[in-house]
Amino acid sequence: MVVDSVFDVVADAAPEIREGLPERRAKAATENVSGDEQLEADVWADDVLFERLADLDGVNWYASEEREDVEVVGDADDGYAVAIDPLDGSSNVKSNNPCGTVLGVYDEAVPASGRSLVAAGFVLYGPITTMTVARDGDVTEYLVEADGRTDLGNVEVPDDPVVYGFGGRVPDWTEEFESYVRDVEDDLKLRYGGAMIADVNQVLTYGGVFGYPGLQSRPEGKLRALFESMPIAYVVEQAGGASTDGSQSLLDVDPDDVHERTPTFVGTQSVVDDLEAALPD
Ligand code: AHG
Ligand code: MN
Ligand code: MN
Repeated sequence: MVVDSVFDVVADAAPEIREGLPERRAKAATENVSGDEQLEADVWADDVLFERLADLDGVNWYASEEREDVEVVGDADDGYAVAIDPLDGSSNVKSNNPCGTVLGVYDEAVPASGRSLVAAGFVLYGPITTMTVARDGDVTEYLVEADGRTDLGNVEVPDDPVVYGFGGRVPDWTEEFESYVRDVEDDLKLRYGGAMIADVNQVLTYGGVFGYPGLQSRPEGKLRALFESMPIAYVVEQAGGASTDGSQSLLDVDPDDVHERTPTFVGTQSVVDDLEAALPD
């Protein structure tokens, strides 16, 4: 099936992407559409994944954080779209901290609503390489090695929250959001590493909340709906957690533009409920 093939391709590419990082840490002298400086590794990981995913029968659209336009790679009117952030947290490469790959599989052309997701997942390049896949109501974590992957079991967001991490500079947060965080920090431990995938995996492991809020200088925040926010929301919601853009599930976000951003919060249901209550509609 197409969705299986997509995750097989990503799992096969992951050890190669990881091995290719040491020699591609330099800046590429280019910016992507979002205005981020690209590393050679960002551009290269995108090319590797594009070549292999575009080749799959049934994958008819490829959208990437590193490409301005959606690539039409199949000729059918129906079929799947893969939207991908090839290297999430690539600024962590310089300081040798974790980064990841995140993707969503949509059952129509993108941009599309998060409700069109049929599967989503991510690879985490940490001390070990893991891949977490959400589909058919289940979330499974795999250990990924050059000779294949091993099932590490089901992932469920713990009910008792332990960690929190939010992006953006505090003076740029809104008053309502800052006051919510002041409450959260009484109970939870701060964990923020600058790569969404790595920070979200702490939430999946320990319970808690990760987010990148709307800022005073940029009300839409930083994270991109199609490649980052909606796929990660799909994973967290299928693992029994919750997501919000401040007023609705991130899966109800319906971006008009491929690179559109949205305030993004995912985590333990109770913490996300409190957050929604604290923010204005
Ligand atoms: P990317 O490297 O794909 O552009 O994503 C970076 C994102 C995300 O991974 C992370 O949560 C956030 O940017 C970190 O932003 P700050 O460095 O502003 O905290
Ligand atoms: Mn990213
Ligand atoms: Mn990226």
